[in-house]
Amino acid sequence: MAILEIKHVSKFFGGLAANSDVSFEMAQGMIMGLIGPNGAGKTTLFNCITGYYPPSRGEVVFDGRTMNGLQPDAVCKLGMARTWQKVRPLAKMSVVDNVMVGALCRTNSLKKAREMAMEQVRVVRLEHRADFRAGGLPIGERKKLEVARVLATQPKLLLLDEVMGGLNPAESEEIIQLILDIKRLGITQMVIEHDMKAIMRISDRIVVLNSGEKLAEGLPGEVVSNPEVVAAYLGSE
Ligand SMILES: Nc1ncnc2c1ncn2[C@@H]1O[C@H](COP(=O)(O)OP(=O)(O)OP(=O)(O)O)[C@@H](O)[C@H]1O
Ligand SMILES: [Mg+2]
Repeated sequence: MAILEIKHVSKFFGGLAANSDVSFEMAQGMIMGLIGPNGAGKTTLFNCITGYYPPSRGEVVFDGRTMNGLQPDAVCKLGMARTWQKVRPLAKMSVVDNVMVGALCRTNSLKKAREMAMEQVRVVRLEHRADFRAGGLPIGERKKLEVARVLATQPKLLLLDEVMGGLNPAESEEIIQLILDIKRLGITQMVIEHDMKAIMRISDRIVVLNSGEKLAEGLPGEVVSNPEVVAAYLGSE
């Protein structure tokens, strides 16, 4: 059974169709790459999937349940968590306290939340920074903190919005390895990323959005050799 089914999702902002009749499915355990030019509607689709915006039309089915009408906190409790394109940690709080915020979605015990948070801090390899003020972290480590915070919500499906954005090649490589580690933990992932080399390496399949519409879907090799994709996206890089 598909863990996520996106069925004819549209999202209108006034006259603009940020998403237009988008449909695809994700199998349990896979990594789906989501690519497309700036303004293609990638982040909007994440917002529609995770309850931040109600879709104007269509339906999102997660784990066999419709997500329509659910708020982000309810969606998160059901097992979907997303990161934000612009990372905004609680700057004055420590790294581990930031991650505890995610864990508190699963437990009311601060002690338990702290244990759960430390576990995820180790997964992203920030243990040496656990008590460091989050606002003082360099960008590469802030991105890892963001991933730890969503992992602490114990998701079945993780949606990552440009977690490699603004990183240097060495930092990006660490995030690639982290995404592959998360896959090995059995967590399904949808990854928005502009770096084509990275997306080709990590994705089992890729969906291409362009002007709100699904332009193509397939194996990474199929997508990059699709002439329409090359014309709309890759050709302009
Ligand atoms: N809350 C909003 N109100 C009005 N228009 C919006 C809103 N959110 C997004 N849009 C518009 O919807 C379109 C898609 O935006 P979106 O942020 O989803 O694109 P994206 O593919 O994530 O782009 P990028 O690669 O630059 O992050 C854009 O034209 C954007 O201006
Ligand atoms: Mg975006």
